[in-house]
Amino acid sequence: TLPVANVQELAASFNKSDDQVPERYLVKEATTDGELVAGEDSSLAIPVIDLAKLLDPRSSEEECAKLASACHDWGFFQLINHGVPYEVAGNLMNDVAEFVKQPLEAKKAWSQQPGSLEGYGQAFVMSEDQRLDWGDMLYLQVQPAASRDLRFWPTHPASFGRSVDVYSSATAKLSYRLLEFMAKGVGAEPASLLGVFEGQPVGMRVNYYPPCRQADRVLGLSPHTDGSGLTMLRQKNDDVQGLQINKDGKWFAVNVLDSAFVVNVGDVLEVLSNGKFKSVEHRAVIHPNKERISVAMFHYPCQDLVLSPLSEFVTEGEKVRYRSTSYQDFLMQYFAAKLDGRNHVERLKLE
Ligand code: SIN
Ligand code: FE2
Repeated sequence: TLPVANVQELAASFNKSDDQVPERYLVKEATTDGELVAGEDSSLAIPVIDLAKLLDPRSSEEECAKLASACHDWGFFQLINHGVPYEVAGNLMNDVAEFVKQPLEAKKAWSQQPGSLEGYGQAFVMSEDQRLDWGDMLYLQVQPAASRDLRFWPTHPASFGRSVDVYSSATAKLSYRLLEFMAKGVGAEPASLLGVFEGQPVGMRVNYYPPCRQADRVLGLSPHTDGSGLTMLRQKNDDVQGLQINKDGKWFAVNVLDSAFVVNVGDVLEVLSNGKFKSVEHRAVIHPNKERISVAMFHYPCQDLVLSPLSEFVTEGEKVRYRSTSYQDFLMQYFAAKLDGRNHVERLKLE
């Protein structure tokens, strides 16, 4: 990975100037061009799933079916009544904001090192001519606890490590419950995905998106799909819209509900489920005068996985839709796709 300019610093000077957006950050088409459906009409908003209803025998079946269609049609849903205490997420988001607020000099103590994805910086910049995103990030492997590389863990604020520990164990447990209901929703054995995900690595990505005077000329996060299994996202200020989902060729803005998780299907789950769940392209846009902070938790599969549709998800008479590959090879393709735009999931698809 290559070192790139800090966007917080860049934004501070750019927003006071009359300059045009630096070439490397400029998007080809303004992000406001094309069709954008803001999700005010509830039929166009991403589905809301209620964990309390999933757990209640009287409503479970119906909610399970709703969950399965959300994962198929949108690849995204918002989760409410999820049982993660408000302060657990609140503490994390406050600590993350406190970390971000520090001057650049202080944050350099936790910078990414050559050859590592972890730390503060832009871990996914791999070539000199790659277009850059308008945002700074901190990436850490947070679970299992033994896999943590504490060199990269902020010690300011002092509660950061504890907040991440509590939050990430809560989201990991929650992800297992969701994986059970997702499997159930398509008629597979509820435990079928747990063998792949339970106790496996979890990565945390903190995204800090400074405002940009020419917000429609930049992107906070370029269109991508997640290479993980399940991703769970929170954002700090629910009044700043940023996340957009590509559905049927249109961009849908997500109005994040206060205290809900935005959950999405990653590439690995699409393949494991034989396409019954979809890994959908999404991006983050920038606000002209408000900053935005989001935190994504990536739930990864076991590292020695042979990635192919699980037999429980291949309904009788149905074709196997993806060729098998090692997860490690899949990851290499995932990173390569960032450079040459090849779709690493498409190439696994069988006719
Ligand atoms: C992500 O795709 O990981 C996060 C997008 C966002 O900040 O909403
Ligand atoms: Fe993502």
